[in-house]
Amino acid sequence: MPKKTVTITDNNTGKSIEVDILQGSQGPPVIDIGTVYKELGMFTFDPGFVNTAACESAITFIDGEKGVLQYRGYPIEQLAEHSNFLEVCYLLYYGDLPTRKQQKEFDSIITRHSIIHEGLHDFYSGFRRDAHPMAITCGVMGALSSFYHDSLDIWDERSREITAHRLIAKLPTIAAGAYRYSKGEPFAYPKNSLDYASNFLHMMNSFPSEEYQVNEIAAKALDLLFLLHADHEQNASTSTVRLAGSSQANPYACISAGVGTLWGPAHGGANEAVIKMLKEIGDPSRTKEFVNRAKDPSSNFRLMGFGHRVYKNYDPRAKIIRKMSKKVLDELKVDDPLFEIAMKLEEIALKDEYFIEKKLYPNVDFYSGIILRAIGIPTTMFTVIFTIGRTIGWVSQWQEMVTDKSHRIGRPRQVYIGKRKRKYIPVAKRTKN
Ligand code: SDX
Repeated sequence: MPKKTVTITDNNTGKSIEVDILQGSQGPPVIDIGTVYKELGMFTFDPGFVNTAACESAITFIDGEKGVLQYRGYPIEQLAEHSNFLEVCYLLYYGDLPTRKQQKEFDSIITRHSIIHEGLHDFYSGFRRDAHPMAITCGVMGALSSFYHDSLDIWDERSREITAHRLIAKLPTIAAGAYRYSKGEPFAYPKNSLDYASNFLHMMNSFPSEEYQVNEIAAKALDLLFLLHADHEQNASTSTVRLAGSSQANPYACISAGVGTLWGPAHGGANEAVIKMLKEIGDPSRTKEFVNRAKDPSSNFRLMGFGHRVYKNYDPRAKIIRKMSKKVLDELKVDDPLFEIAMKLEEIALKDEYFIEKKLYPNVDFYSGIILRAIGIPTTMFTVIFTIGRTIGWVSQWQEMVTDKSHRIGRPRQVYIGKRKRKYIPVAKRTKN
């Protein structure tokens, strides 16, 4: 089959080059621009990488136009209905669904790695009590890079695997510790008798002085939220982890860089920002006012939880979470006025010309906070929950990048728009004071 190519012609010089078109197993073809600078002496320009495929990956597929999300080819709707978070962790990291035996072994490894080195507890005491849990999580994750010298050889498969197990297992313990520290409460150690989500709730809420019973509905809802947040192709935080990893940095340091990126309100910090926005709206009758504010070009207000770089359709995760919100609120007999405001906001926005024309739909962050509030997670911990879910995506993408024989250090170029070459001016001759 002849190679498909595209001709790029520089109309200033008349020079033309043929560049290859590459086609993945799904998704749009891509133009391989690897020779453009060498042949035409020009860079390509794509701020925010809106139109740029930065790598080949076999982990997650998204079709933004159709609102499709697949983990290793499995539609998110099927995984949400039939799977659980640790099974999805296995799928994302190893590439296939586990056998019953493989799953049992994997669950047991993750459970046994959930405790953190006692020395790590000391890192918390340097933070202010009112530090944001994401600041603590980011910092303690970075500190993890100073432990485990036995498995830092990124070229060794077993070292990478142990690192992945430790990250998946220890994130909930580190995260729950951030919450307990912020409340001045003693840390709760993980309990090996509990499943992943239940263990996190236990570490968040149990007290040494009394028995704590995990709410099964809450644990199930949390497990599903972890699953839905597990990976999402080359989003900002995953791209950060890949770029950090491309320098062959310590893997824990790379994940810590991902945590920092996820924190931003334009990315994983949106779930916390959505609740703040819904509280500010305060009543369904004020939703139109806020939709108008979001449309006002002179205002930098945005409808948090709306819009997406890739989805120009309803985020499939948001659809699942919206349905789950209603179910969890009913089952837990929680009446959250913010849910009604959120649904009213969605109803108005989706009928509004501005949102229709710009293809702005609810994303994964729009309803997730409703569920987290219902199961008693404080708002400041929402992005930390996102971090726990996404760690498996980061470490799977990192592993894929490290094992890609063609990978090189990531090093984008730029369009320089600064001052042209000029002569140094001695301070005595500088007129401006
Ligand atoms: C996540 O990439 C991923 O996959 C991320 C994620 C993952 O799982 O990793 O899915 C998780 O980060 C979800 C997104 C969470 N963020 C928010 O909900 C914050 C609010 N949304 C945005 O700020 C915005 O929509 C982004 C950041 C999500 C996407 O920004 P883009 O792709 O750069 O789009 P844009 O800013 O160029 O917007 C296009 C237009 C603009 O208008 P014009 O300049 O063309 O006139 O749409 C407008 C924007 O002003 N717009 C919004 C809007 N989002 C975009 N207007 C009002 N409210 C909004 N929420």
